[in-house]
Amino acid sequence: MSASFDLSDPGFVADPYPALAAARADGPVQWHDGLGLWVTTTHAAANDVLRNRGLGRIFRPRAAGEDDPWTVFDWLHADSILDSEPPKHTRLRRLVAGAFNKGHVERLRPRVEQIAAELLTGVEQTLADPGSGGRVDLIEAYAEPLPVLVICELLGAPASDWKLLRDWSQAIVKMYEVSPTQPTQEEAQRACAEFAAYVDGLAAERAAHPGDDLLTSLVLERDGGDRLSRRELVATVVLLLNAGHEASVNGFGNGVASLLAEPDELTKVLATLDDDTAVAALVEEMLRHDSPLHLFERTATRDVELHGVTVRAGEKVAALLGAANRDPAVFDERDRFRAGREPNPHLAFGAGIHFCLGAPLARMELQISVQALLQRLGRLEVVEARRRPTFVLRGYESLVVRAAPLAGAVQEGGGHE
Ligand code: HEM
Repeated sequence: MSASFDLSDPGFVADPYPALAAARADGPVQWHDGLGLWVTTTHAAANDVLRNRGLGRIFRPRAAGEDDPWTVFDWLHADSILDSEPPKHTRLRRLVAGAFNKGHVERLRPRVEQIAAELLTGVEQTLADPGSGGRVDLIEAYAEPLPVLVICELLGAPASDWKLLRDWSQAIVKMYEVSPTQPTQEEAQRACAEFAAYVDGLAAERAAHPGDDLLTSLVLERDGGDRLSRRELVATVVLLLNAGHEASVNGFGNGVASLLAEPDELTKVLATLDDDTAVAALVEEMLRHDSPLHLFERTATRDVELHGVTVRAGEKVAALLGAANRDPAVFDERDRFRAGREPNPHLAFGAGIHFCLGAPLARMELQISVQALLQRLGRLEVVEARRRPTFVLRGYESLVVRAAPLAGAVQEGGGHE
């Protein structure tokens, strides 16, 4: 059976879930002609793809030589933890996790709370400004700056550089969509070169003047006689900045939009905002219901039997995480947003050896940012929402909200996809 959904169809990108549900009825693993690879439609199949050791992340270099404009792009991927496989992945993950596990994430909690509070003051000022019509774009004013400011703090990069880092990161991740255009490719090459030089400079500074940040831990981390090479260090930091940014922005935007679309769930959430366990469950449902990352590819290193099909050595298979997270075999009322859903074994952070290293940070950031938003602003409603035209990284370009009228008041119509 061949999957028929079209990833570039605007209707699919706006709401891929009906087409993914229809595809699921045709089987857990299907060939997709347009993509030229296998795709999974169920939770079990996505989980198996991410865990099967015959299926690996294989990065194919683009550069023809050291002077090629793809050179930096290539080594930023080839030397990164995300694009390597054992034994290299095991070694890199040990070194990077060793640095991460030095308490940097928990230590950051008060700072994340402070960043959220400062940004929310700006959000409130915008809402109170008569020129805004009582509306504010949550992506621009809150969701986008917050994770970059947090990652700057984690790494000890100057907060004033956050827009620079955001722009580089956005230029690079556009390469992960299907068929990037020539200008997108050139932008990504330039962003890689500038980003790598920036991080190299920062790492050299930290080697000379150690601080108490993650970057210093990465520079100094040793495992026996082993340590990250210069390229591995730069590739790790660029990955942390990219991974730590895009998915968090989209996780927040998608999740808040899902929540605000369910007024009864919002009422329950507003009543339990002081309960950290309830907020933690809310964030898991935000990540499940409209996941920020939808597609992760693997390449078969040998023939692999997968839910009734044979993936031949050299063929690719994509785990579709959004489809997995709406699988009715695992999630009751799969299309409904249920803030207190329990259990919630979603795959938004992946599975297996590449399981998201930043999940504790992402969870902390999302819990603090959504709790602070609703505590300060109360009931909100979406008045305008514009999606990014991308499937792999699914998110909103803008999510304009206003204070919701009190129950019983007459409501104006608002546009929401
Ligand atoms: C809502 C936010 C996030 C989501 C949904 C997310 C999701 C994911 C997923 C699905 C993977 C696995 C990719 C694969 O199997 O091919 C992954 C890997 C990774 N993520 Fe995240 N991520 C998020 C935030 C973060 C943050 C904040 C950081 C770090 C600051 C981070 C760092 C990483 C790293 C380093 C890896 C690679 C791990 C490895 O290859 O061993 N992520 N993430």
